[in-house]
Amino acid sequence: MSLARLEIAEFRCLERACLALDSRYNLFVGPNASGKTSLLEAIFFLGRGRSFRTRRLDRLVRQGQDAFRIVGWVESGGRTTVLGVGGDRRSTEIRIGGAPAGGAGELATHFPPQIIDPEIHKLLEEGPHRRRRYLDWGVFHVEQSFLETWQRYHRALRQRNAALKAGSDPGAAKAWDPELLAAGRRLDEIRRSYLALLEPTLAEFGRRLLGLPVSLAYHAGWPAEETFEAALARSTERDRRYGITHVGPHRADVTARVDGHVARERVSRGQQKLLASALTLAQLAVQEVRAPGSGALLLDDPAAELDADNLGRLLEVVRELHVQLFVTALRPDLPGLGSPGALFHVEQGQVRPAI
Ligand SMILES: Nc1ncnc2c1ncn2[C@@H]1O[C@H](COP(=O)(O)OP(=O)(O)OP(=O)(O)O)[C@@H](O)[C@H]1O
Ligand SMILES: [Mg+2]
Repeated sequence: MSLARLEIAEFRCLERACLALDSRYNLFVGPNASGKTSLLEAIFFLGRGRSFRTRRLDRLVRQGQDAFRIVGWVESGGRTTVLGVGGDRRSTEIRIGGAPAGGAGELATHFPPQIIDPEIHKLLEEGPHRRRRYLDWGVFHVEQSFLETWQRYHRALRQRNAALKAGSDPGAAKAWDPELLAAGRRLDEIRRSYLALLEPTLAEFGRRLLGLPVSLAYHAGWPAEETFEAALARSTERDRRYGITHVGPHRADVTARVDGHVARERVSRGQQKLLASALTLAQLAVQEVRAPGSGALLLDDPAAELDADNLGRLLEVVRELHVQLFVTALRPDLPGLGSPGALFHVEQGQVRPAI
């Protein structure tokens, strides 16, 4: 799979761009504020139906315009699929092969981009939401039943919470427990087997990038010494009082450890970047085994926060993966990735191929 052609209109500072892309390595070079991250943001939006910088659509529409549009031609096994996403200030529209798509998840089955950017340390530093999303993105790509199980669980959770909030009939919330427990146990099971699959690669990349043992501890969303059923039963009274379900896979988390210490509390910013990158790259490597040639990686200013040795080690791991690369840099002499198949200059929102 590769993104062969890309058209962007009225997205951030990019008025209009039409790019013929390389199936292996694309490098975008330009000064600060030229539009490099915006370009990666558009590519990310094409595969994920959202930005990695903001939830606010109005920020994405070019100033003074009403709507943006991104179209991509994805080649896979000799076939081309056209993906299109458009957005005004309130909503997005997704089209696949010219027809309206069910949701953003469908985009990612055609073009699943991952990103390593200067904000990647947030994966470790911020609340569990980002880490759950990280975990579930990985599970989604190796376990076919994931999406359906996740949707079943969240439907039961929404209904249970609505009944808890309404409060009048205690039986109404309890009626959702069997479905919540069944889907929740399955979700827990597939998350655990995914992490077992990820672990050896993460340990290898952690060792290579940080020179230290790296591991992940999984928290299911209820106390480890209890079953989900027992924890839910124990939590029911509190759930009724607050009108919300306090235990379950929607509260899951993963804690990264470096050399036995919780990473968030212990490592430097540069090390955080390396660790979070190891997490992302391990996910891509596992995905590659399941679906060879299906990955895409966006690297936004990889040199930021890293010294030359660490940047070299990071790019060496990146280079070994068989993914389509989209990299931004201030200068074209980025060491370690070889020469780009396509080099673009970005300046004041204009993207031009280097001749
Ligand atoms: N909706 C918008 N409309 C017009 N311009 C915008 C919009 N959103 C952001 N910009 C501008 O786009 C410019 C480019 O931003 P971008 O983050 O893509 O730059 P960059 O090349 O990645 O810079 P850096 O090297 O500093 O990371 C900025 O000057 C920003 O103010
Ligand atoms: Mg940038």
